[in-house]
Amino acid sequence: MKHLVNPLDLSIDEIQEILDLAKDIERDMKKYSKVCEGKKLATLFYEPSTRTRLSHEAAMLNLGGSVLGFSSADESSASKGESISDTIRTVSCYSDIIAIRHPKEGSALIASEFSQVPIINAGDGGHEHPTQTLTDLLTIQAEKGRLDNLTVGLCGDLKFGRTVHSLIKALVRYPNIKFVLISPEELRLPNYIVQEVLKKNNVPYIEEVRLTNALPNLDLLYMTRVQKERFFNEAEYIRMKDFYVLDSNKMKLADKNMLVLHPLPRVNEIHPEIDNDPRAVYFKQVQYGVYVRMALIIKLLDIQV
Ligand code: CP
Repeated sequence: MKHLVNPLDLSIDEIQEILDLAKDIERDMKKYSKVCEGKKLATLFYEPSTRTRLSHEAAMLNLGGSVLGFSSADESSASKGESISDTIRTVSCYSDIIAIRHPKEGSALIASEFSQVPIINAGDGGHEHPTQTLTDLLTIQAEKGRLDNLTVGLCGDLKFGRTVHSLIKALVRYPNIKFVLISPEELRLPNYIVQEVLKKNNVPYIEEVRLTNALPNLDLLYMTRVQKERFFNEAEYIRMKDFYVLDSNKMKLADKNMLVLHPLPRVNEIHPEIDNDPRAVYFKQVQYGVYVRMALIIKLLDIQV
């Protein structure tokens, strides 16, 4: 049985199979509308979500399956003190596949150790968010035409932003990827990722505080919000939250083909005035997230299509 806890649980070939299947689903959604008939997806969300929970649910419904679950810990017996392992043992009896989001790093790995059905990590604390990475890879491949030979700017909260951590791990496996890590000093990429992912794989990177310095040289700009829920000190969050605001003036510095991605939700870091700029693809990214999760569910359930 296969789980998706970490982006590295999938080989490059398996990722490409998922992206190819997602593109076929986009071309002909109807062809897949019954392939999960009789199957159930459980969504166990101990932390708030709009896109990840609803896109997993939409994906399963689009495949002809059904969904059950909870959208906050308060709605579940976690509020009475039940452990993740007991909850997973229980929900495995009710469902064929489980997507779990939890504030604790490592929670999805624990879930995978106790589950009788495939586990999808829908975000574990400030650690990983592998289905967002599949979404990002599909968006980049579809909109840029390639996953190699890219200079990728990652901007914002690189310390707590789990989408950035997972995307870096996935992208370093493609040829000629360079990173520009754009953050304030306080929100730099964790040292363990610099050492164990970037340096270990000899991937070129530079660290930059000023977005305007980085913008002219990027193929992609991946913006992120400052992760309020991971801060211990509210004053520190308020000091950091508007450090970067991408607006139409700054976009004038960027290449005419540079793409802007964002996992969303955004707060103030992208001004709505650039939403109609053809380079802004963050709402297309949301749509790709449904196709790629449909493909992932098909693969993890080992459904032949
Ligand atoms: N991108 C993402 O994880 O969004 P949600 O928090 O709304 O699920």
